[in-house]
Amino acid sequence: MYRCRKNQTMLTAQEKSHFVAAVLALKASGKYDQYIQDHVNFMPNAHRGPAFLPWHREFLRRFELDLQAIDSTVTLPYWDWTVDNSPTLSIWDINFMGGNGRPSDGRVMTGPFAFSTGNWTLIIDGPALRRRFGGAISSLPTPSDVTAALTGPAATPYDVAPYNINSASGFRNLLEGWINGPQLHNRVHVWVGGSMGPASSPNDPVFFLHHCFVDKLWADWQALHPTEGYLPSSGALTGHNLADPMQPWQSRGEVITPASVLDHHALGYAYDTESVCAPKLKFRDDPIKLKFIDDQGKRKFIDDPIKLKVLDDPGKFKFIDDRLMKQPGLDMTVGANRPNIALARGGREAVPFVLSTPHHSMAWAQSFPGAHRTSITQYESTIAQYEQTIREINQAYENGQLSEADMHNAANIYQEYQALLAEYQQLRQQSR
Ligand code: CU
Ligand code: CU
Repeated sequence: MYRCRKNQTMLTAQEKSHFVAAVLALKASGKYDQYIQDHVNFMPNAHRGPAFLPWHREFLRRFELDLQAIDSTVTLPYWDWTVDNSPTLSIWDINFMGGNGRPSDGRVMTGPFAFSTGNWTLIIDGPALRRRFGGAISSLPTPSDVTAALTGPAATPYDVAPYNINSASGFRNLLEGWINGPQLHNRVHVWVGGSMGPASSPNDPVFFLHHCFVDKLWADWQALHPTEGYLPSSGALTGHNLADPMQPWQSRGEVITPASVLDHHALGYAYDTESVCAPKLKFRDDPIKLKFIDDQGKRKFIDDPIKLKVLDDPGKFKFIDDRLMKQPGLDMTVGANRPNIALARGGREAVPFVLSTPHHSMAWAQSFPGAHRTSITQYESTIAQYEQTIREINQAYENGQLSEADMHNAANIYQEYQALLAEYQQLRQQSR
């Protein structure tokens, strides 16, 4: 049983308030400041080398467990700064992280962590939390920066000699951000600016959301490169080799090594994009795009033509032409007689397997060796698209933009969503 860490954009208002309250309680207890102290005191043990990722994984996990001791419903959210990359987004709302610093001195004036609340006095580099969005560097890392770190030519192995900021390639130094830096991790600290700059950067609670995403990227990389592992087992600074005990835990009588934190599932958590956390998932770059659009005052759902690629045997893709299967309709302009998607496309395009009937899905999954995993992934992305669509419907509803007929159709979308979830669960049970 894993606790699932979610993208912060997926948190409900209630989840956000629970998270903020737990952070404030940890601060009031004095424990929060211990994290800052540890981060300051053990900078060389935790940065500029291979242990960068394991050290922060352990650091965040302890922080999360401390929050959960205060409120068991809380998990660490992550901030995907490649998508949520502007100062006007909800992460900076007064109910969550609070906003940018004021121009004169960078002091954060809004939200739960503003100095003026009396709840957030910094004991190091204080007294007030400061931010200067885009002050020293104008943009956050992009999705293609992340893709390059995960799968580009320099993305493997985990690290290379000399195992420090001069390592010319390797996932760790790419992600930490020293190669042609500041990039990725480093760049985010610089972009937020203010209190996120110095060694006391955990002063800003967004540090934990930032590093949670960094940790997720490591987990993503591990899943993409299951045979790569960790490097080195020797030759790096003490504390950075595979079996070296890491500080400050060693001096407190606990042996935590990079090796002991490689499997994040073994630590008790997972990310919302992993199947173990289904169905609450969020994907981007999905092949299927169900979009809720405003068509000159008329709202409707469109689907982009897609062809489902199914991995038949390794490296070889097979197109599935299942156009005659029963499909849930998604065109809201048609009302009760919603059309078959395949027919709406003129019958030219293959339809997504995931929208077929459960019975057919099972038979199909069994008849194509290796396809089971692919179909599960396909379900996950379709479910994520449904969730996005439902969010957009909810938004339109809140804005008073839905007619009675629209609401009826929206109810159908919810039903289809529920049916998909049921199918998905069934398929996943089969794969066990
Ligand atoms: Cu750090
Ligand atoms: Cu950092």
